[in-house]
Amino acid sequence: MAEGQTLNAAALQAMRERGQPIVALTCYDASFARLLEDSGVDVLLVGDSLGMVVQGGGSTLAVSLADMAYHTRCVSAAARRALVLADLPFGSYQATPAAAFEAAAALIGAGAQMIKLEGGAVMAPTVAFLSERGVPVCGHIGLTPQSVHQLGGYVVQGRDTASAARLVDDARVLEQAGARLLVVETVPASVGRAVREAVKIPVIGCGAGPECDGQVLVLHDMLGITPPPLPRFVRDFAAGGGGIAAAIQRYVAAVRSRQFPLAEECYS
Ligand code: KIV
Repeated sequence: MAEGQTLNAAALQAMRERGQPIVALTCYDASFARLLEDSGVDVLLVGDSLGMVVQGGGSTLAVSLADMAYHTRCVSAAARRALVLADLPFGSYQATPAAAFEAAAALIGAGAQMIKLEGGAVMAPTVAFLSERGVPVCGHIGLTPQSVHQLGGYVVQGRDTASAARLVDDARVLEQAGARLLVVETVPASVGRAVREAVKIPVIGCGAGPECDGQVLVLHDMLGITPPPLPRFVRDFAAGGGGIAAAIQRYVAAVRSRQFPLAEECYS
């Protein structure tokens, strides 16, 4: 892909195949989109985590499609090279594939190049429906924050053999349905590795160990803005000083050189 050209699903696939770690961060506005781009971040995730770090809620559940479209527009206004990935919010896609398409169309219309939805094999028909209609889809398995009430809290997933095997199966089924990217959140490093080995699409870890094709963190967490307690996989990249740009550059360098996450930042 030529220098300066926008990253897309095929470019991320090529990065996996070259063994080049993919650097992702959440992003909710144009100023940060510019800063992240200038620091070499590949994927700007307009995450529904904005419900917590921007809106001040206790979960992601109250985020609306209008909220997501607004922040996607803000980010995409400044994005040039990075891929803009936007979360479908809770309630906008679970009921039917047609509902998911309408919600995805709103976010693609706002400037997203790919949408992310939470859930395993149960979401495969929706992933296929969107993919076949021209919407690139990123799956999200492991700790899926929109299911916090069902999961009983923000707890590590895939710790026993059966649930680890289910996550690997979910990953395979989502890939077969057409997913182009996968986020795996808050699982033991061994499960992150097993998921990555089970599929050919790029796997981005968020607390899933070092053997993924890339890493993602919530921007406010890695900048030391979010008050503790934070999950063990969050490193405060601002702690080294030098301002926000320096912190983001340290994160990009650490992911690219596989210096993040370290063993103590992983679950077993
Ligand atoms: O919304 C979000 O920020 C996310 C990441 C934590 C993966 O989905």
